[in-house]
Amino acid sequence: MKLTLQIWRQAGDTDSGHYETFEVDQLDAGMSILEMLDRLNEQLLHEGKEAIAYDSECRESICGTCGINVNGRPHGPQPHVTSCMQRLRSFHDGATVRIEPLRAGAFPVKKDLVTDRGGLDRIIAAGGTVSLMAGTAPDSDAISVGHDQVERALDFAACIGCGACVSACPNGAAVLFTGAKITHLTMLPIPAIERNERATYMVAAMEDEFGPCSLYGECVLVCPQNVPLSAIGSLNKERLRSLFHPRI
Ligand code: SF4
Ligand code: FES
Repeated sequence: MKLTLQIWRQAGDTDSGHYETFEVDQLDAGMSILEMLDRLNEQLLHEGKEAIAYDSECRESICGTCGINVNGRPHGPQPHVTSCMQRLRSFHDGATVRIEPLRAGAFPVKKDLVTDRGGLDRIIAAGGTVSLMAGTAPDSDAISVGHDQVERALDFAACIGCGACVSACPNGAAVLFTGAKITHLTMLPIPAIERNERATYMVAAMEDEFGPCSLYGECVLVCPQNVPLSAIGSLNKERLRSLFHPRI
């Protein structure tokens, strides 16, 4: 199949950027969007032109680095699928496909399709860890946790930090991400000991760089890990709880 690609090119964060059009031929419908970009880059390098910059690591829906915006939708047309697993069969032969970086005020473009999503890392650094001193906590399996509770914690722990939810939100909010990261730790006995500090610091870091929840709900529709909307309710509950039970 053949596609016409309109791809965002931007030299750096001070450049205003523009779309550049490319024709790519002899594509297989089973190829991923990233494999198509690999093919295009080979073509560009062969012609002595600069390759398009984009991020990827695992290419297996695990690492969350590959997020791009395809035809206006974070990750691409297939719902709940990361950019690295989006297949070209979603497009008809001869189609024009627009590819741009994940758009969000908190994600400045570094180059072409590469964005700086360090704001999400700063939310984690603010409290998304377990910092109990070694030797003070019992063995993790010394406290039994119900199967359903573990399964629910894993639903939230599935977040891969891709940032698609932020890009889909009209307010550029990171509440689904932050809610997932707070909730999976709150549901387990040892990490729950620090739940109040965690909610206080992570919410403050989130509000520092990201917008408020728009109540729009688009975040869950693009989330490749199906993180449930209840993550947002859980975040609000933890935020309220931390006000009444401060430990800092
Ligand atoms: S909640 Fe979903 S969309 Fe948002 S960062 Fe996590 S995996 Fe990506
Ligand atoms: S490259 Fe890791 S999730 Fe896509």
